[in-house]
Amino acid sequence: MVLSILAFFTVEVPQLQYIAEYGSNVTMECRFPVDGQLNLKDLSVSWEQKGLKEQKPKEVYTLQKGEEDLKSQHRDYRGRATLLRDKLNLGYSVLQITSVKLMDAGSYLCLIDYRGADYKYITLEVKASYTRINVQIMSEPAEEELVLICQSEGFPLAEVFWQNEKNLKVNVSVNTTYTLTTDGLYNVTSMLTFKPNASGNYSCTFWSKELNEETSYIFTLGSYLLLNFYIGVATMCACE
Ligand SMILES: *[C@@H]1O[C@H](CO)[C@@H](O)[C@H](O)[C@H]1NC(C)=O
Ligand SMILES: *[C@@H]1O[C@H](CO)[C@@H](O)[C@H](O)[C@H]1NC(C)=O
Ligand SMILES: *[C@@H]1O[C@H](CO)[C@@H](O)[C@H](O)[C@H]1NC(C)=O
Ligand SMILES: *[C@@H]1O[C@H](CO)[C@@H](O)[C@H](O)[C@H]1NC(C)=O
Ligand SMILES: *[C@@H]1O[C@H](CO)[C@@H](O)[C@H](O)[C@H]1NC(C)=O
Ligand SMILES: *[C@@H]1O[C@H](CO)[C@@H](O)[C@H](O)[C@H]1NC(C)=O
Repeated sequence: MVLSILAFFTVEVPQLQYIAEYGSNVTMECRFPVDGQLNLKDLSVSWEQKGLKEQKPKEVYTLQKGEEDLKSQHRDYRGRATLLRDKLNLGYSVLQITSVKLMDAGSYLCLIDYRGADYKYITLEVKASYTRINVQIMSEPAEEELVLICQSEGFPLAEVFWQNEKNLKVNVSVNTTYTLTTDGLYNVTSMLTFKPNASGNYSCTFWSKELNEETSYIFTLGSYLLLNFYIGVATMCACE
């Protein structure tokens, strides 16, 4: 008899996988049957996360017999994970994580105990788009070269492509390097060094296969900039 009662209690997930942007807020949801008015004192909810690398699950949020239990909450989620209490009456256990970090990615266990117990897993992926490109233009008059620099942060690692109207048929050298930020993002810097001989547009593009996204910045090398560049070069030459 007990077994047949348990069989009725099933946790369901409307969405198995979520993708959240780094720094954003995400809500993940699982559902359980509530017959009539919810009796909060009978309800225990537990959300646990298992990261991509860690072996040991972390407690994200616990509701014990209707009472929030923050003592056991893992420090990584302190102040960032909460249960949307007003959704419980509907039989929705909605976990909200704010200011999503890369380490939040992984598998989440949603366990519900309410006159029966069941659980389901939900996957969270975290991405960080290379949305903001910082740029710099430098000149190396001694070498008669211009240096264009593009820098951006994101995850996973992006490649950087440079282009101009002639698809870079000019003699250029590209140097792309990266470091890791304390948050685990890739800080990618790419430099294009070349001898400009005409005005034109040059663009850098951050491209990531995994993100399936690209972001570009277009440098417009107008004649004014080039004139100043050559005045710089000429001044250098006059000094020699
Ligand atoms: C994320 O949630 C927090 C707390 O509810 C709120 O202050 C913040 O504005 C939200 N951020 C975004 C990007 O929605
Ligand atoms: C610029 O230089 C490239 C090769 O260095 C040459 O093919 C191109 O014709 C030059 N453009 C102009 C406008 O001189
Ligand atoms: C390209 O530039 C490098 C260094 O600036 C130089 O050594 C090389 O000869 C150049 N190649 C052509 C085809 O101009
Ligand atoms: C590329 O840039 C990095 C950092 O600025 C520098 O250490 C490295 O020597 C450069 N590599 C080449 C091939 O120019
Ligand atoms: C990324 O790298 C650039 C250039 O190396 C540096 O100026 C910047 O502070 C770095 N940003 C972060 C968030 O580490
Ligand atoms: C560079 O881009 C600007 C605006 O995007 C455009 O008006 C201009 O014609 C471009 N220059 C060249 C040489 O294609």
